Amino acid sequence: MAEQRAEPLRLGSIAPNFDADTTNGPINFHEFIGDNWVVLFSHPEDYTPVCTTELGAFAKLEPEFTKRGVKLIGLSANTIESHGGWIKDINEISGSNLTFPIIGDKERKVAYLYDMLDYQDTTNVDSKGIAFTIRSVFIIDPKKTIRLILSYPASTGRNTAEVLRVVDSLQTGDKNRITTPINWVPGDDVIVHPSVSNEQAKELFPNFRIVKPYLRFTPLSKEQTSANV
Ligand code: BEZ
Repeated sequence: MAEQRAEPLRLGSIAPNFDADTTNGPINFHEFIGDNWVVLFSHPEDYTPVCTTELGAFAKLEPEFTKRGVKLIGLSANTIESHGGWIKDINEISGSNLTFPIIGDKERKVAYLYDMLDYQDTTNVDSKGIAFTIRSVFIIDPKKTIRLILSYPASTGRNTAEVLRVVDSLQTGDKNRITTPINWVPGDDVIVHPSVSNEQAKELFPNFRIVKPYLRFTPLSKEQTSANV
């Protein structure tokens, strides 16, 4: 019989609160968020190859997240004791110094709360036949609103630069009345937000250009983005 699944979380949902043990001690998630942005990401299992490379990469990019006021927190469906041994391997293999917390979610309480469990891929189960957590990523803002949800299959490692790029898009869009086009990176032209009239755009973005009435670009230097840190 199927497990009872939590209500699906959507962009704009408030990130559910929880208490959990982590490799840095117990946390209350909303207290952990505080006034920060948070990237919460899950892993199927400790001591697995793809997860090992992912955690090393997140650890190496952590200073860039920190500069933008973003805290990282991982989750894997094992105990914190298991995580502790695994972190030593990750640092040895990646040359990283992983210091952010990893939640011990052996009972999959947080995984259920955040709907991080695989449904479609029936091969993605552990030795007891219990569904692995998938590679979920949640970007959460200081108001505790979920701003991004990614779900990757167990076989495919994520792209840490992409997660950072979305943080830059969201933070830059919160401060300027812009959206970001396909493959945007800080320094590229951005799109004038559809809610901005041409009259307002002349004031806000003197160098904006109209490609179509619904597609208006403006330069926005890297220094004007959240990547200027
Ligand atoms: C991995 O991290 O390599 C992995 C974990 C669970 C299932 C498949 C791959």
